[in-house]
Amino acid sequence: MTMPSKTTRRVVVTALSAALCSLGLAVSMVARAAVGEVKVGVILPLTGDKATFGQESLNGLKLALEKAGKETPQLKIQVEDTQGTPAGSAAAVNKLIATDKVAVIIGEVASSNTIAASTAAQSAKIPLMTHASTNDTITLGKDFISRICFVDSFQGAVMAKFAVTNLKAKTAAILVDSDSDYSRGLRDSFKQAFIAAGGTIKEDLVISYSQKDRDFKTQLIKVRKAAPDAVFIPGYYTQVGAILRQAKELKLNSKFLGTDGWDSPDLFKIAGAAAAGHYVSSHFAADDTDNRVQDFVREYKARNKENPGAMAALGYDAGFFMRAAIKKAGSNEPSKIRDAIASMKNFDGITGTITIDKNRNAVKPAVIVTTTEKEFKFLTRVNP
Ligand code: PHE
Repeated sequence: MTMPSKTTRRVVVTALSAALCSLGLAVSMVARAAVGEVKVGVILPLTGDKATFGQESLNGLKLALEKAGKETPQLKIQVEDTQGTPAGSAAAVNKLIATDKVAVIIGEVASSNTIAASTAAQSAKIPLMTHASTNDTITLGKDFISRICFVDSFQGAVMAKFAVTNLKAKTAAILVDSDSDYSRGLRDSFKQAFIAAGGTIKEDLVISYSQKDRDFKTQLIKVRKAAPDAVFIPGYYTQVGAILRQAKELKLNSKFLGTDGWDSPDLFKIAGAAAAGHYVSSHFAADDTDNRVQDFVREYKARNKENPGAMAALGYDAGFFMRAAIKKAGSNEPSKIRDAIASMKNFDGITGTITIDKNRNAVKPAVIVTTTEKEFKFLTRVNP
């Protein structure tokens, strides 16, 4: 065997390295440009007493994916019903990771469910981004967990300041859903901000109820006796609707303040006439005059025959936000998607401009809406 001459060898080596180099370039270009399809798990309460949250989220998300059309990356969603429970949420995450091999997960809605889901996602190092869960602890110490909604330390303070400044409230009571991390967190943030703003909340007027309760009269009679200026109810629409109805029957005349968990078309069905006249913090209002909001409302209504609520808007934003993050990641590797989500800045959503902070929470405005017997009405926007 004759050895190639020195020159030949050098030529071969140069040609080989040029080929490898262009191959490397091609590979990195492929990685960056051609994230064709990404498997995205979606966990939502499609059944149970928070089902409108799941249905509206899915309607919004599907509209976003439909609008993206054939543009890449294509998000291939695999939807799991959590039945609105923590155990169902953790099981859904484990199934999506083990069986469907998803690269990233969107959901859940209720904070207690997302806490359970995020423990499972974090230990598998699969990023989970919630569009709706606001409890502050969700992302804490879990570097694969993020959110595109504001947190409850902000939401509670927004309503406390509104009560003191706009409603001139000096005293308040709080009705707390003792089964919910969301409600307990908001109790604390509202209480702290209300007292800091000069208000008073007597300890015996911080009163618990359970998600299993149907009758809230014992709690409401206690509140009626004390007659505080405002009653803060950080809860979900199924219980809140019944509370409002029973409060009206008992002729409890305090002003009621609510939070995003009220935001469901079913609140009006359950509470009827008692739904009117309250103040609620949320992520979105369908009658906001912003042009992009109105375009979204029109498109959503054409498909779903009803106005979108906050959940629909958050689901829609989650779809576009996730596409943008995966595009930025240039990869369908879970850890790269995690990094891209964590670095998103000034994303222009229907629910506001979203910047992810160092704790992977969204910094963005809240809206305050009022209620009629039938719907929410935009009142004001509050910046962080
Ligand atoms: N923020 C609520 C939670 O953390 C969920 C929710 C968001 C409900 C938006 C309605 C609208 O439990």
